[in-house]
Amino acid sequence: MFVSSTYSKKELFSNLEPDLVIFHSNELVTMNTKYGAPRIGEDMAELAIINDGAVAVKDDRIIFIGPTDELISKFEFGKIPTKIDATNKLVTPGFVDPHTHIIFDGTRENELSMKLEGKTYLEILKLGGGILKTVRETRKAPLEKLVENGKKILDRMMSYGTTTLETKSGYGLTTESEIKQLKAIEILNDKHPLDIVPTFLGAHAIPPEYKDKTDKYVKLIISDMIPKIAKEGLAEFCDVFCEEGIFTIKQTHKILKTAIRYGLKPQIHIDEIVDTNGALLASKIKAIQTGHLLKSNDEGLKAMAEAGVIATLLPGTPFCLMLDQYAPARKMIELGIPIALATDLNPNCWTESMQIVIALACYHMKLSPAEALTASTINSACAIQKEDEIGSIEIGKKADLLVFDVPNHQFLPYHFGVNLVSKVIKNGKIVVDNRLST
Ligand code: NIG
Ligand code: FE
Repeated sequence: MFVSSTYSKKELFSNLEPDLVIFHSNELVTMNTKYGAPRIGEDMAELAIINDGAVAVKDDRIIFIGPTDELISKFEFGKIPTKIDATNKLVTPGFVDPHTHIIFDGTRENELSMKLEGKTYLEILKLGGGILKTVRETRKAPLEKLVENGKKILDRMMSYGTTTLETKSGYGLTTESEIKQLKAIEILNDKHPLDIVPTFLGAHAIPPEYKDKTDKYVKLIISDMIPKIAKEGLAEFCDVFCEEGIFTIKQTHKILKTAIRYGLKPQIHIDEIVDTNGALLASKIKAIQTGHLLKSNDEGLKAMAEAGVIATLLPGTPFCLMLDQYAPARKMIELGIPIALATDLNPNCWTESMQIVIALACYHMKLSPAEALTASTINSACAIQKEDEIGSIEIGKKADLLVFDVPNHQFLPYHFGVNLVSKVIKNGKIVVDNRLST
């Protein structure tokens, strides 16, 4: 939407009549960006809450935010077509899940017994399991099957409160099948109410046909995959799994330099299992966001803080890998690194629920409920560079809103493992109505 610089958004939207309002919210968490976007340090805990709060929506936009009595005196309340009474309820911006892998075929439930026997993630991969098993199955799947699988996941994500997500290719590892995955994302983005930011992750594993010839595979990525994908406009970001035994720092740098030249934004999976100095590389190339960071060294973390690289923490993954260690979130906040949270949904760590991720972040990484909510909304919007449109409840932004059947934000990690969402509003429309939730 065009917003003239001579008018404030408030003036522009003030004469419109709402078609939907939410009122009497016990806590309306606005996440007002005057505290910064992304929020860092102490500001991560600042939610900009309005008590007895109200929001008004016209079409897909937020046109009013304030106390309920102001809403009632401003508009002809009786004439508003859709009114949601949020008495004793929490209202927040829609969750933004900035790191997922939803396009795949086949499942890996059998790997739990291997993990219970003590096999590590990389050992399972070496045995031809893990990512490589999913690659075998995803290569065989027709496009329609990938779309069908993806739709089921998106429906579940939406019912748990995600309104925008990022998702990646990475289970094809040939030019053709990486493009097939990205086309599935494009189709889903067109058809499904959720908004999806697509990422090319051809550098997710070494395909079996390139075993011991990783440099050759890197060459294929650089000279064939990236140019074709950029030309077709199939991805916004390029990601690499930079890890010992997967792609080296040097290879990662090479891939991402090429991606940047082709107009793709850089992000990296770093320091998940071994510290390969990924955090330093992320700062050097000014990655928008980085995933995992369990093992990153202090020098790298300080460089990330200086460069403003967002750390997207994925506590579901160490949980599913049964690790004792989680990313050092408290240290990152102290250093001033902006933190986002994501599900990392993939066949190893399969959850659609940002509510579960918030609980894991609080119980295992010691985030406060307020910090975890910031990391799941405004900061995760920044991780995909969509903070001008989503991530907070502000006039002129997209009406992506959640109504929870709980009285305050501290309930989100407290009452865990169930769906606390009562209503999801996406682009100004009610897309989920869980009347009987909790
Ligand atoms: O972020 N670590 C690399 N990639 C994914 C997992 C993919 C898979 O195991 O299928 C992740 O955890
Ligand atoms: Fe991932």
